Amino acid sequence: MYTDTHCHLFKEYYQTIEKVIEDAIDSGVHKMIVAATNMENSKEVVSLAEKYPSVYFCLGIHPESVEEERTEFKSYVLSLKNHPKFVGIGEIGLDYYYGKELRNEQLLLFDEMLDLAEEVEKPVIIHSREATKDTIDILNRHRVKGILHCFSGSLETAQILINMGFFIGVGGVMTFKKAHIDEVINEIPLEKLVLETDAPYLTPEPYRKYQNEPKYIPVIAEYLANTKHIPITRVAEQIEKNVTEIFDI
Ligand code: NI
Repeated sequence: MYTDTHCHLFKEYYQTIEKVIEDAIDSGVHKMIVAATNMENSKEVVSLAEKYPSVYFCLGIHPESVEEERTEFKSYVLSLKNHPKFVGIGEIGLDYYYGKELRNEQLLLFDEMLDLAEEVEKPVIIHSREATKDTIDILNRHRVKGILHCFSGSLETAQILINMGFFIGVGGVMTFKKAHIDEVINEIPLEKLVLETDAPYLTPEPYRKYQNEPKYIPVIAEYLANTKHIPITRVAEQIEKNVTEIFDI
């Protein structure tokens, strides 16, 4: 049994989310943590989790939505604090891939989201692209733990985050030959890793021509097992332990 710790099952991406969830369960993925990225899809993921027993949700405003109004968002999140399927704050973070013009705005938003996580006492799902130093600095100013999602950094960065209490989320990128992420992942203890698809993006090899779905988690698990030269049953067992250590599910 597997958990997809990070996917975006939004209506804008999938015609029939019900089928996506069924196919995931059929392939052994019994839990899916759906991460919102703005106010609109936050509401969507709450109703999805209320409809499907396998679905849990995280609420957050992604750095790409940095200009979004958030007073209403914050009170919405606080009103759901005790919702049984509300497991974390995310996807939140910093993204300087397209430039640093909005750096200050992104830092302010990220800081607000981390405050919110402390207030609701839940783990965080962090997106960090070309922003390692700022990410570590800001996380050091907050009392939060969680997952660094879609990890593609250096072993040194991974080590710093692990020492801060974070887990490293790995997905399809690990299977891309050009990425060379597997060499770094190989050095990270299994006890500090979790699996994620980031669906609908970043489908693992050899399925890259298809849209990504949580059903591909076992493909990523198998790749990880081969990289680490350990049995897949050991990967599945340890990763599920890690998931329950992070999330209250
Ligand atoms: Ni994502």
